[in-house]
Amino acid sequence: MKILAIESSCDDTAAAVVEDGRQVLSSVIASQVPEHILYGGVVPEIASRRHCESISGVCRKALEEAEIELNDIDAVACTYAPGLIGALLVGVNFAKGLSYSTGKPLIPVHHLRSHIASNYICSDELKPPFLALVVSGGHTHLINVKDYTDYEIIGRTRDDAAGEAMDKAARTMGLPYPGGLNMDREAADGDPHSYKFPLPKIQDSELDFSFSGLKTAVINLVHNLEQKGEKPDVKNIGASYIGTVVKILCDRTEKAINILHPERLILAGGVSANSVLRREMKTLADKYKIKLYMPDLKYCGDNAAMVGSQAFYEYQNGQIASLKLNATAALDIDKNITI
Ligand code: KG4
Ligand code: ZN
Repeated sequence: MKILAIESSCDDTAAAVVEDGRQVLSSVIASQVPEHILYGGVVPEIASRRHCESISGVCRKALEEAEIELNDIDAVACTYAPGLIGALLVGVNFAKGLSYSTGKPLIPVHHLRSHIASNYICSDELKPPFLALVVSGGHTHLINVKDYTDYEIIGRTRDDAAGEAMDKAARTMGLPYPGGLNMDREAADGDPHSYKFPLPKIQDSELDFSFSGLKTAVINLVHNLEQKGEKPDVKNIGASYIGTVVKILCDRTEKAINILHPERLILAGGVSANSVLRREMKTLADKYKIKLYMPDLKYCGDNAAMVGSQAFYEYQNGQIASLKLNATAALDIDKNITI
């Protein structure tokens, strides 16, 4: 089954053709980074406009690279939630148009489900159940993935997402957007023990996360240095900050391992590209003799191949949308739309 998948939840316009959930025939991404860089972050209105301009060409290129015609596809899939509403709407409406004109089924895909599925296209043997740590710009979740479309959220951030905390810290230190990626690069040879940042104390749940205190601490540190006329030591502050974020992520994941005793652990979402997180997750998985899966770097960030992969399993589960499908800015991963 060949699925033409579309992703437009944030600032990447992407389309891909994926066969039977695992084989990527093409994956095309039109990045908007050069434009958003001017503003230090994603400007939702600009993102929507660029999606409108790019989506048609990106889909055409995905079909060309897969060496198929529109009529050769068996279904159209799109990310419908969660994300920037104006950005999602472009992909959803374009997918609806394609579905209507070709008569092929329309498959709605949850963005975090697709991030998890990025591991299916990178590791053919991977099948649920497994424990997933999903870390993106907008979400930080520990998820018990029981089956391809069956999820239980067991831990989540109480405030900021890990990616958001990375981006904000990077911006405060004067690093350009995308902050998480640039801080990872800058901090590569910094000393992670040179600055001490606070660890969150969370009532009632040992699996929940919090990053807002840490974010405030780095902002205060940099502002204090600037008030004294000193330049922040980006390498060492960055390395210490990333080390603290990763420690928080690994601590909670270790607790979840001790509760669920999973055979497999997977990492997903944009922050899964972080070099320190990848290393520390490997150490953690080795400690408990668990098999660890992480997406290839090219599938960590937003892309449509992961949407095409998850769509295959949604389709098998009967998740087919009518043309009434709407975009939704916020929706938990364990919820399905009813249409
Ligand atoms: O999944 P994603 O591409 O978009 C969302 O769904 O949010 O994640 C984007 C996030 C951003 O916060 C970005 O700074 C972060 O992933 N990110 C990284 C790295 N690459 C991307 N954070 C830390 N280290 C990286 N290498
Ligand atoms: Zn994402």
